[in-house]
Amino acid sequence: MSQFDRHAIDQVFAAADSMVPFANRQRVTRVLEGAILGNMFFEPSTRTRVSFGCAWNLLGGEVRETAEIKTSAIAKGESFYDTARVLSGYSDVIVMRHQIEGSVEEFASASRVPVINGGDGSNEHPSQALLDLYTIRKEVSDRGKGVDNLRIALIGDLRYGRAVHSLCKLLTLYDNVHFTLVSPPELSLGDEYIEEMRGAGHEVVESSDLQAGISHADILYVTRTQEERFPTQEEAERYKGLFRLNQSVYTEYCEPNTVIMHPLPRDSRGNANELDNDLNENPNLAIFRQTDNGVLIRMALFSLILDVADKVEDTARDVSWYTAKRF
Ligand code: NCD
Repeated sequence: MSQFDRHAIDQVFAAADSMVPFANRQRVTRVLEGAILGNMFFEPSTRTRVSFGCAWNLLGGEVRETAEIKTSAIAKGESFYDTARVLSGYSDVIVMRHQIEGSVEEFASASRVPVINGGDGSNEHPSQALLDLYTIRKEVSDRGKGVDNLRIALIGDLRYGRAVHSLCKLLTLYDNVHFTLVSPPELSLGDEYIEEMRGAGHEVVESSDLQAGISHADILYVTRTQEERFPTQEEAERYKGLFRLNQSVYTEYCEPNTVIMHPLPRDSRGNANELDNDLNENPNLAIFRQTDNGVLIRMALFSLILDVADKVEDTARDVSWYTAKRF
């Protein structure tokens, strides 16, 4: 995330706005015709993997998937260096997710084509943060506000939650953000993030009280306990279900029109259920607007990385089939 400044973010968001007719299937473009995306996900993924692939397809390119570690030579002991040298011969851009922190950076340094981090262990998840910030900006501007002076409560597993890490870094670039960090003390956000946030002049309040934490916020950003990052499953179980947001908690403690976000997947099993299904009809629940925005942001990233953001319209035409409107 530290590669981005506010100017770069504005560029991504402007490109994302221009992708709406394509993501809505009103227009199709062939701007990436012949280009190949290497979509390499060595950890479980639904929306990140599929929306990167969909974004590339919507720009007219082909997608190759490497889904599981056991189907690639990394399982035979091949280094990231060798794998990157090889696979970058077969693709124009690579998106990679891997469970080891820093793995994507190591891979990128040996790759001959641009590499996008689709999540490296508990470290970072920058494209998620960009789509989250894009969503935040839209949601708060509909409510007459901006990202500067934002009040955001981040709730849950802030220690291992990579989407939270990248979002905090991104928000640090704005002015006077008020962060409320709601987590059990053992799952609090790392000091390095908090120091960066405070160092940039933002107010950071840590709490383990959900009701107090959510009561004066523009945005609630709820997260799942990242059970796959814990040393043992028993330890992860201890933290599930500690903070549960549902409609009655929301009605009682939140200001009207507080926006509810979650990177997803939400853990809907009874012992966790951090974001209850009874919020599904709440118009302030933005989780599926986040996932839709993910396509726009990922199309924007591809078009900027490959320097075709201003050429998308050259090969575009209206579609003739029936299309459901998404945006
Ligand atoms: C997140 C991830 O994988 O880090 N999900 C996502 O990419 N949308 C969050 C999570 O898994 O809890």
